[in-house]
Amino acid sequence: MTPATLTHKDFLSILDFDALDLERCLELAARLKADRARGRHAPTSDALDGRHVAMLFDKPSLRTRSTFEIAVRELGGHLVALQADVALGRREPVADVARNLERWVDAVVIRTFSQKLLEELAAATTRLHVVNALTDDEHPCQAIADFLTLQEKLGSLRGRTIAYVGDGNNIAASLAHASAMLGVHLHVASPEAYQLPHAVVQQATGVSRHGARLRLFSDPTDAVAGVDAIYTDTWTSMGQEAEADSRRRAFAAYQVNDALMALARPGALFMHCLPAHRGEEVTAEVFESAASVVFDQAENRLHGQKALLLMLLAPAAI
Ligand code: CP
Ligand code: NVA
Repeated sequence: MTPATLTHKDFLSILDFDALDLERCLELAARLKADRARGRHAPTSDALDGRHVAMLFDKPSLRTRSTFEIAVRELGGHLVALQADVALGRREPVADVARNLERWVDAVVIRTFSQKLLEELAAATTRLHVVNALTDDEHPCQAIADFLTLQEKLGSLRGRTIAYVGDGNNIAASLAHASAMLGVHLHVASPEAYQLPHAVVQQATGVSRHGARLRLFSDPTDAVAGVDAIYTDTWTSMGQEAEADSRRRAFAAYQVNDALMALARPGALFMHCLPAHRGEEVTAEVFESAASVVFDQAENRLHGQKALLLMLLAPAAI
């Protein structure tokens, strides 16, 4: 594989990749997944030797935190687990946080609320690689794992159609960016007030390849007709807990259940980034069905993030 030279030092968004970077990342992730069985004999097991990666989580996490920690360790790097008492943007300007970190570590993986804050932090340093581990607006690491999973299950991505049913949130935004770049059609079904932001639609249209189309729906039954996979996410994201009741009412007709799955192509997949809420956005039956690939997605977070770290920090080792 040709060493990938990325145009951006950071990964704050799928849009920091071009389509070729994203395809390379998926290809590398698949290779790293196969190599994992070789443990310390895997060719990349020392690739981050002597490098430090800091992690800062302002919101809860199971998957993202665990998989980044394991990824850094399996690539031979060292972790610095920052605590939430860093109080990002409140104790000192984020630019100062960045200018401290760049003196000690090679990269920082951050989960926080504001995408703007993350952009501000990244812009304050020329050396530190900043990785978005989820903001209110985007979750690009999840999208890498999602398309790795789809590639494994469907064989090829180009020309496939996914329906995302639910909140036009961070998961939907990164899915829209990545599907457009990979030539995958995306249908997004949401209640009027929770649609994918117009800016995301424009961004996705701007990076669309191979005729990938993004279509917005209000009726989930229209959105899922004949699709290859149905994806959903929580109705109430982290930080929106006060709106939980009104959201439950607004999204009641957007549950992924057997009736909705039956409208997709026979053999269609069910996808969820997790954590899932049975009886809300998905029924227990669909979640536990043979169609469900949710734990493959969770596993693939590890392989996708190993690929990402190598592309950012050690392209010569690829
Ligand atoms: N899907 C995902 O990002 O999970 P966590 O919130 O547990 O990290
Ligand atoms: N939309 C969810 C995703 C969790 C991984 C949230 O932001 O809470």
